[in-house]
Amino acid sequence: MSLSRRHFLASGLASAAVWPLLGSVRAAQFDADPFALGVASGSPTAQSVVLWTRLIFADSEPSAADAFSFAPAPQYPPMDVAWEIAEDEGFAHVVQSGIATAREELAHSVHVQVVGLLPERWYFYRFRCGQALSPVGRTRTAPADGADNARFSLALAACQQFEQGWYAAYRDMAGRDLDLVVHLGDYIYEKSYGAQHVRSHGTGAPSLLFEYRDRYALYKSDPDLQAAHAAFPWLFTWDDHEVVDNYGGDASPTDRHAPSFLKRRAAAYQAWYEHMPVPPLAVPDFNDLRIYGNHRFGNLLDITLVDARQYRDPAPEAPQPAELGRYTMLGAEQEAWFDQTMAQGAARWSIIGQPTLLSSRDLELGPGTRFSDDGWDHYRSGRDRLLDSVRKAERSNPLVIGGDLHAWYAADVHAADGALVASEFVTGSITSNPPARAAFEAVMVENPHIRFGDASRHGYSVMRLSPDQARVELIAVSDRKDPDASAAKFQEFAVLDGMPGVNRV
Ligand SMILES: [Fe+2]
Repeated sequence: MSLSRRHFLASGLASAAVWPLLGSVRAAQFDADPFALGVASGSPTAQSVVLWTRLIFADSEPSAADAFSFAPAPQYPPMDVAWEIAEDEGFAHVVQSGIATAREELAHSVHVQVVGLLPERWYFYRFRCGQALSPVGRTRTAPADGADNARFSLALAACQQFEQGWYAAYRDMAGRDLDLVVHLGDYIYEKSYGAQHVRSHGTGAPSLLFEYRDRYALYKSDPDLQAAHAAFPWLFTWDDHEVVDNYGGDASPTDRHAPSFLKRRAAAYQAWYEHMPVPPLAVPDFNDLRIYGNHRFGNLLDITLVDARQYRDPAPEAPQPAELGRYTMLGAEQEAWFDQTMAQGAARWSIIGQPTLLSSRDLELGPGTRFSDDGWDHYRSGRDRLLDSVRKAERSNPLVIGGDLHAWYAADVHAADGALVASEFVTGSITSNPPARAAFEAVMVENPHIRFGDASRHGYSVMRLSPDQARVELIAVSDRKDPDASAAKFQEFAVLDGMPGVNRV
């Protein structure tokens, strides 16, 4: 279908007459646009999709001073938010509508799981609160289970440090023909990092709930990021910077006192939930937030997204080579779930999403080896178990996707016995600073299974699947520091059905 993004984003201002009458709308007037963080959708199935927004109020965010005073922070009452979903961007054919209540306890976020939709369809949605109308978002349901769908396109995104660049990559993404976006982590950064910033966080590293909320609100205020959310449904996993650099499980390198770190982690997880189009929680408990899952898209593909942060064994304080590989990245429960999930699927392409590079990566130039203690090399028995699950299930065409490294990598994934079992694509950073040049060059020299690498650009990737091949396009912006940057494909790969391994096109 041909569609003008600008047109449908603007059309939300029209036709308020079709809305149901709201019985108990409070706060019909707003000083500023309560939908200034935009709209989003996610977790598509063949029958359902999650719609998201968050109301914000001009003076609703408590200041840092409030955290240390006994004065109550500004409180806003629960608000009724009407939603509707239609077949057309003009909302002439509304298929469902309803009212959700946005509450202070969850930052007036709205998570609506709309069920009873038709598979493989575009839908348009919007929200209303009082007299305020949200922008219009577009979303798409998954193909039906068992459907012989022949084409599917998804974008891969990761690592979008707000200060280090503009989101031209998302502006470009929003205009493309895609079915889905998968975000592989580092949606926010807790710290500034680096120099030559194009914009500022304005505040230091968050540790309290309102501080994490403010950080998400800042990132989500970006119009290009909003456009990419409004154009497609998204799926997510997270990496470390959503909480704090290099944390693992219940410990962070800078805060090894578990109780205080766990409080901070729960605040970060809550703010993540409040800002992501993920399914509503029946009983919110942010001490333990399950985000891993398997998502089916007909017979062509399924996407298994793991959580590699919440359940991992923390890295030891000092390097302990003898113990390398004893640790778990996913935790026993998620590993068992992964094993079962692999055994149950039979899609032609098995996409496995995790936040970083699954393949081994020796960082030491010349003789000897050195590995990151934050990556899978530190958890290599966990990697072996993961790949064993994939092989045992005889999954056809496993494609591993990841982010984290601020460089694009295309790799042949080998099991512990050396067999080539999968193909891997790590997407570059949307904006975040590249690794040191010497370190990147050492990786390319020392690791022949990493068939391609590029740490000189920023952008995203597009994966186009058909029954006979997967194509992966790497798309870079002309200059991450230029708000008007253009974007273009600079490299393309193919993986052929039944033949693991990456091929340059
Ligand atoms: Fe990152």
